[in-house]
Amino acid sequence: MNIIKVKDYEELSKKAAKIITGEINHNKHLVLGLATGSTPVGTYQELVKNYDNKLVTFKYTKAFFLDEYCLSHPRLFEYSNKYFLEYNFFSKINIEPENVFGFDQRIEESEKTIAQMDQHLAENPIDIMLLGIGQNGHIGYNEPGCSFESTTHLSKLSYKTRLANQRFFSFADEVPSYAITLGIKNILDAKKIILLASGSSKAEAIKELLSLKISTDFPASSLIHHPDVTIIIDEDACSLL
Ligand code: F6R
Repeated sequence: MNIIKVKDYEELSKKAAKIITGEINHNKHLVLGLATGSTPVGTYQELVKNYDNKLVTFKYTKAFFLDEYCLSHPRLFEYSNKYFLEYNFFSKINIEPENVFGFDQRIEESEKTIAQMDQHLAENPIDIMLLGIGQNGHIGYNEPGCSFESTTHLSKLSYKTRLANQRFFSFADEVPSYAITLGIKNILDAKKIILLASGSSKAEAIKELLSLKISTDFPASSLIHHPDVTIIIDEDACSLL
């Protein structure tokens, strides 16, 4: 694992965006896998700046959603990962809509959307997977206990994850109980993985990850033997090391 320690969130975001920009300039047909949540927001902002400054084009880039909530009602669409990535990233760059692969948010459509995603993944292997990390070590919505062989699936969100994500919703009972996620195997199939962690709330998880103990109880530990993982962590996330 390549570990990059940076001072703060701003530096983390710039560093991640610089790596991704460099990779796209090297291969304009790059296929990205993209996390949502608060951690990568700065990276998306920096990538948008690079696009505005003509340092990168996304004309031929493809992008996969890493995961998506199963929403209990269409009125909650603005909490979806689809809305999040459209708002924070895709609407601000020149990616072609047909090059974006996401999920249906309706739980009753989960089987169909999972099968479609598996088909798209088989046709477009992911080059760079951008990840955050949950306080319980989840990556995507692969929660503790999830098999390292898992592929795209419906995941029941843990109490801890739902609690951590309450901040994105107006009411606690709106936080979805289920999400669809690429599985750990799909994540490990990516050629390169970049995991971001910022802030003291991630310090325990980073300590656990860097203890290099491999266990399904801590899904991020599946990354340890991947040949190309870069972890970018800021001072607060390193505070227990
Ligand atoms: C969401 C995802 C999750 C988040 C994790 C951390 O698409 O992949 O694994 O990365 O829950 O979320 P934040 O960044 O909000 O702390």
